[in-house]
Amino acid sequence: MKYDFDRIINRADTNCVKYDLRKQVFGNPDVLPMWVADMDFETPDFVRKAVIKRAEHPVYGYHFKDEPYFQSIAGWLKRRHQWEVPTEWMSYTPGVVCGFTMAVMAFTQPGNEIIIQPPVYPPFHHAVSSHGRKLVYNTLVDRGDGYEINFDQLAEQAKTAKMLILCNPHNPVGRSWTRNELLLLGEICLKNNVLVISDEIHCDLVLPGYKHTPFATLGHQYAMNSITFHAASKTFNLAGLATSTAIVPNETIRKTYVAYVEDMEAHLGNIFGKVSTQAAMTYGDEWLGQLLDYVQGNIDYVAEYLSVHLSKVKFHKPQATYMMWLDFNGYGLSEEELWHKMTQEANLGFNRGKDFGEAGSGFFRINLACPRATVEEAMRRLKSVF
Ligand SMILES: Cc1ncc(COP(=O)(O)O)c(C=O)c1O
Repeated sequence: MKYDFDRIINRADTNCVKYDLRKQVFGNPDVLPMWVADMDFETPDFVRKAVIKRAEHPVYGYHFKDEPYFQSIAGWLKRRHQWEVPTEWMSYTPGVVCGFTMAVMAFTQPGNEIIIQPPVYPPFHHAVSSHGRKLVYNTLVDRGDGYEINFDQLAEQAKTAKMLILCNPHNPVGRSWTRNELLLLGEICLKNNVLVISDEIHCDLVLPGYKHTPFATLGHQYAMNSITFHAASKTFNLAGLATSTAIVPNETIRKTYVAYVEDMEAHLGNIFGKVSTQAAMTYGDEWLGQLLDYVQGNIDYVAEYLSVHLSKVKFHKPQATYMMWLDFNGYGLSEEELWHKMTQEANLGFNRGKDFGEAGSGFFRINLACPRATVEEAMRRLKSVF
């Protein structure tokens, strides 16, 4: 079956963050919204069918996630990433952000140092700073060919830190970390007793030619020092269903984590999150293959367009995610001037780079999980103003 990713779907007036909050976020209700990381593609038919079937049962009471549910996730991780995960390692978590925030609360104390690697997804910052923990930045380094981890600095920081929140693959710079890079990072953390929280929500969006390495597959001792978060939400456009999975190989850490989630009364979740995730993990391979090819086409289009028409905009092609991280510093404009030009003159709603940390100053993140026609329109608008 050939899926249609060109179809334009009107999402306005569905209480959707990406379209219906444009005025509040950009001061302009007419920007072309290419910000929040969800997709303008329809959630696949096999997922919608599962949701509709369950919705037809007239009672929506409390429910739990059963063994076949966790088996479907285990099957997916084995097929896609050659990772064998016993289902007893898994537990339901409402969302990945909620999950890593609960891990911060359960495994660190106020005042403890937690390492993140900016530019990185804004909730990594908030999970630490909003709860009285101390942010330690191991800022990624762009050596020309792409972003890298600063291992020397990390080795110093790890001496006093309690936790590292890893973005694997990394949003917004689109790196799919190699096994070697993860080993170096994992070794530093292990040596210094720094617990690794691996956010792998983008792992199924590794682009053609690249391979995802789950942190916990590096080896037994690395797995025992980790909590991984996985979800079908980013990949299959289910973010509104708030469903993800914590994978905790270490029994002691698992018991503490699960007890914390239960204390927060956050362990049950919603019925539709269950049936949609299970359908995606069971039937999603073919659809995902076509999605990734389409997204790669969008990325190639933007890369070519920028190189030809807007060569002052610098970028590295992403290895994973449907986002591109664009550097507008070449224009010599201030943050405010850039923001104004983008949102009020070009009518474009991209994420502001600074929200990902100071290292993102002068950058924008653009979401390319949308029909090609939207991407073409965005490039035309950019060219007309820049
Ligand atoms: C790295 C990363 N983690 C987590 C999330 C959100 O996860 P959830 O909706 O499950 O909280 C996103 C969404 O963009 C993300 O990019």
